[in-house]
Amino acid sequence: FEVSWDAAAAEKGGWSSFMAKEVAEQPEAVANTIRGRVRDGAVVIPELDGLDELFIGINRVIITACGTASYAALVGKYAIEQWARVATDVELAHEFRYRDPVIGDDTLVISISQSGETMDTLMAVKYARERGARTLSICNTQGATIPRESDAVVYTHAGPEVAVASTKAFSAQITALLLLGLHMGRVRSTLTDTTAVEELSTLPEKIAQVLAEENEHVSQLAGWMADTRSVLFLGRHVGYPIALEGALKLKEISYIHAEGFAAGELKHGPIALIEPGQPVFVIVPSPRHSALIHSKVVSNIQEIRARGARVIVVAEEGDAAVLPFADEVIRIPLAGAMFEPVLAVVPLQIFAMALATAKGLDVDQPRNLAKSVTVE
Ligand code: AGP
Repeated sequence: FEVSWDAAAAEKGGWSSFMAKEVAEQPEAVANTIRGRVRDGAVVIPELDGLDELFIGINRVIITACGTASYAALVGKYAIEQWARVATDVELAHEFRYRDPVIGDDTLVISISQSGETMDTLMAVKYARERGARTLSICNTQGATIPRESDAVVYTHAGPEVAVASTKAFSAQITALLLLGLHMGRVRSTLTDTTAVEELSTLPEKIAQVLAEENEHVSQLAGWMADTRSVLFLGRHVGYPIALEGALKLKEISYIHAEGFAAGELKHGPIALIEPGQPVFVIVPSPRHSALIHSKVVSNIQEIRARGARVIVVAEEGDAAVLPFADEVIRIPLAGAMFEPVLAVVPLQIFAMALATAKGLDVDQPRNLAKSVTVE
């Protein structure tokens, strides 16, 4: 009698990869990010108690990060500007650090890092502090170096992320930024709308719905596309960072050329790439939030379709305007504008993972990459 026991398989809890496990864990990860941070219909982040001065008297926010975390930062920019009415820019940490940025004690520098050990981001935080800026980090790893070097920290509580390609940490980072934007809006008295706070609690179940309803469809699609050499991603508003993230996931684990664009940039160059059969994912914003933005994206879809692109849209349930021009439609549930990115990214993660699997690649350990980049 022999007991065979595989420690790695046991850690994956029955999933084929850590990435598959972590993608599936997103409803729980996001619920953990929100837990304990909504009180009496308002977002109150206990770690920031007594630290209102971080947010009052500032006239600028810079969010700094690398890779996937920098795409979460872009969503954060939209949320913080909308809710807390303060000018917000996103800077890649390695660029920020090596120029001479205009910052001082009226600037809040928010850093985002899953590991909390990324050298470029750490150096950016240290640099910001030396220049007198206020610093806050969003981090997934308790007690890591970046939070220790910051004036304040908001932990994402997504649980350990093992796969090199970030998934649940990304959705948790966006969620933490939404919480922070709502917290800042309350502290700065710029936020009157309570619907966003009410919507927070529905986010985990909506992610679960995307996982349940689209996993098979998107995996099948990826299987058919295993020989694809290039995939483009388009998005507008908060869909733009999701286009960037969809492309990064595909590059990282499938080794396929992929690029994400702001849909409005198409006519300024990228449309020249469109030839018959070119797969293009388009993240379509809800028409309920802005009929204008929605109609702009629909005309982008028409433009690429007319040139023979194979159009795969990610659109909210019931959006019929996209149907005549789409080869494939991936549905996400109805959500507030700022919440859509957390839902729209899920099928793109599944797509990258299924394509890499179809190509026989190791999705957890892509070539040339480390989970945490602790060198400059
Ligand atoms: C994500 O899939 C990447 N592996 C990578 O871009 C990562 O997000 C980046 O290196 C930042 O890491 P951090 O969040 O640990 O700082």
